[in-house]
Amino acid sequence: MADRTLIFVKPDGVRRGLAGEIISRFERKGLRIAALKMMRFTRELARRHYEEHLGKPFYPALEEFVLSGPVVAMVLEGNDVVEMTRMMMGKTKHTEAAPGTIRGDFAYHTTFNLIHGSDSTERANIEIANFFSEEELMPVCV
Ligand code: RTP
Ligand code: MG
Repeated sequence: MADRTLIFVKPDGVRRGLAGEIISRFERKGLRIAALKMMRFTRELARRHYEEHLGKPFYPALEEFVLSGPVVAMVLEGNDVVEMTRMMMGKTKHTEAAPGTIRGDFAYHTTFNLIHGSDSTERANIEIANFFSEEELMPVCV
């Protein structure tokens, strides 16, 4: 089976009308969409998803941010999809994200940085299960 990753367009990306642009970049690159939905975070999901950041100084602002509006969540499939999507997203900090990446082209704040992508295959499997049921994952048609 091809590698999978969990991506979501954060509330700032949805508010700014960039969900289509972001999805389109991944599709044009050749990655396959295995699941896609618009949804809202609950506080519980925020704490589960960002457990590695609980207690950090930026966590309260991050939690409020992801609860501030709907996100567009998806599962993408492809070879080396985790590394590929992280490269296409660009670095976390807006001042370090290279032009040509999603954050480099559109983000201007470290917290409000448009997109999440899993950072390892192990984390991807955990995150996919946090966001999607088995029935929501579509068999890939090539
Ligand atoms: P993500 O998890 O959202 O894909 O982003 P990432 O791996 O590039 O960054 P990570 O270190 O995991 O941080 C998660 C999210 O927390 C917010 N953040 N704000 N103000 C700050 O110093 C700060 N640092 C991190 C960002 O929204 C970041 O994407
Ligand atoms: Mg991260």
